[in-house]
Amino acid sequence: MGSSTSVRQLLSSLPEELRRDAELLLSHLLSVKPWELYFLNELPREVLARFNELLRRRLEGQPLAYLIGEWDCMGRTFKLEPGVLVPRPETELLIEKVLERIKDEPLTGLEIGVGSGCIAVNLLLERPGLKVTGVDVSEKALRVAALNAERHGVTGRLKLLKGDLYRPVEGQRFDFIVSNPPYLPEAAWPELPPEVRAEDKTALVAGRKGTEVIERIVRGAPEHLKRGGWLFLEIGHDQGAFVEELLRRAGFTEVNIFKDYAGQDRVAVAQWS
Ligand SMILES: C[S@@+](CC[C@H](N)C(=O)[O-])C[C@H]1O[C@@H](n2cnc3c(N)ncnc32)[C@H](O)[C@@H]1O
Repeated sequence: MGSSTSVRQLLSSLPEELRRDAELLLSHLLSVKPWELYFLNELPREVLARFNELLRRRLEGQPLAYLIGEWDCMGRTFKLEPGVLVPRPETELLIEKVLERIKDEPLTGLEIGVGSGCIAVNLLLERPGLKVTGVDVSEKALRVAALNAERHGVTGRLKLLKGDLYRPVEGQRFDFIVSNPPYLPEAAWPELPPEVRAEDKTALVAGRKGTEVIERIVRGAPEHLKRGGWLFLEIGHDQGAFVEELLRRAGFTEVNIFKDYAGQDRVAVAQWS
């Protein structure tokens, strides 16, 4: 792409399926809104060079979110780095289900697998009376979650701890536990598109059936919830019946499985009473 090309010409020369990503990359590089791009004339040579480089990496399968270094969740922007899961639109349903039940009292929550912090930070911003402990096995995720807590001004109410599931919070009980755990079966991994496999496998895959981490979270939840406390889990599209049964057998009540906007099982909610 030559340096004399106008932005409009440059974007319309790209195949339709690449244009939206190209707009986002360019608007990120120029710090303008995507629609503003169409009012610009020529690009500075160094911006064009950087754009070509990012577009090449995008075509090689790098997630757009890693190339621009941030992504939105619930209309808020979160910093991201390779190795930290890109927030998915389905996770907004999980956040909404928490907000439906957790009102603004001085409450405490535990998030298992805090990742970028997109769940915990959104909850803290919506519920000023809340304090959350976020656990993750990934050092990198915890570092990015800390940056996002700072960016959104909730550092004082988000405690971040490294470790496996409940290990960092032994002996503690919370008003609720929320998790978007890894829930894909091992066999699904090789079939995933390259841009998903460019993410961290530990964030996505959980054993042969995909339910290994969910089962461990459910098993440990009664020891970490106060009486009347809630458990909120994001689950795989076909795991609703299994997780519902798992929760009932563990002694939970008010068990509900909610479907996402595509009509697939997505969120499990249950009460420990
Ligand atoms: C699906 S990602 C969710 C990240 C973020 N909460 C979100 O919704 O975008 C799962 C997260 O769980 C973490 N994780 C995986 N296994 C874990 C374990 N045994 N204990 C704690 N965290 C774990 C991963 O590092 C990853 O950050």
